[in-house]
Amino acid sequence: MSRTFLGIESSCDDTAAAVVREDGTILASVVAGQSALHADFGGVVPEIAARAHAEKLDLCVEQALAQAGLRLADLDGIAVTAGPGLIGGVLSGVMLAKGLAAGSGLPLVGVNHLAGHALTPRLTDAVAYPYLMLLVSGGHCQFLMVDGPDAFTRLGGTIDDAPGEAFDKIAKLLGLPQPGGPPVEAAARAGNAKRFALPRPLLDRPGCDLSFSGLKTAVLRQRDELVAAQGGLHEQDRADLCAGFQAAVADVLAEKTRRALEQTRAPVLAVAGGVAANQTLRAALEAVADKAGARFLAPPLTLCTDNAAMIAWAGIEAYAAGQRDGMDLAARPRWPL
Ligand code: KG4
Ligand code: ZN
Repeated sequence: MSRTFLGIESSCDDTAAAVVREDGTILASVVAGQSALHADFGGVVPEIAARAHAEKLDLCVEQALAQAGLRLADLDGIAVTAGPGLIGGVLSGVMLAKGLAAGSGLPLVGVNHLAGHALTPRLTDAVAYPYLMLLVSGGHCQFLMVDGPDAFTRLGGTIDDAPGEAFDKIAKLLGLPQPGGPPVEAAARAGNAKRFALPRPLLDRPGCDLSFSGLKTAVLRQRDELVAAQGGLHEQDRADLCAGFQAAVADVLAEKTRRALEQTRAPVLAVAGGVAANQTLRAALEAVADKAGARFLAPPLTLCTDNAAMIAWAGIEAYAAGQRDGMDLAARPRWPL
């Protein structure tokens, strides 16, 4: 029998619900983004996010069930992100999931958001354990060796900003719109990555830890020098700064990935998170994987960024491994894998 789960996600700035079957079929996946609500603030505002989740969650679940053509009673379980994330949003999701589980009698499974990302290659490509996952998003950056649905080894990660956060900050200081990844990537296409000497943080240190805040400061300094010298930024300056920044991020992530592959001898390198959309970065990671004899795998973008299909899937795997949660399931702002 192939189980079918409802997944609920509300840990950051996307409200999402999905219905997924154990054979990997995504029957429905609804994502209501909030970026328009936060656009004026240069980042996610927790209070606004919490209110929007509380308002939209019910509707997202209804839409997902309608798209799947199923009623709650047709399902086999409810999976919900129980952390880590902004507590207001996580609480809304957990409370809704508890209510639905209590009302329907369906089993409840609390999922770690990071496990959702980390298990996505199994949903999209039925990848076998073990594999290496590089999670690069607006809030996270880490290398995980994935040996099972609840067996993750963290090999390293950022010691300050996440790469998506760095893209967003670079966009802000160059006057580009948010979220910053896509406009920075677009500007970089016309740029000369070698014009400015930007640092490659932590490359001189062994291991897989990363840092992006010094790189951001270096770009800021270059910008200020240009503005002081010429009274503003030319289009070409902006392009060159974006290209230089992006190349530095790709270099650092590629070298740390090379080390992680060497250390683990993982047969597969999978990526997840919004930053995995970046073509320069993808090409750099693919080249590193090729060289190490590992298969490179990037799930479709809609499943790389925050969504509830990955939560439903992680719930299905956890349930199959015996996990059951009760009405005491806690919402956790911090929850390392
Ligand atoms: O995974 P995600 O949708 O949300 C979380 O952070 O959880 O990732 C969003 C991040 C943003 O910081 C955005 O600027 C970045 O991913 N991003 C990109 C690109 N597209 C999105 N960064 C670099 N290049 C891109 N093409
Ligand atoms: Zn995420």
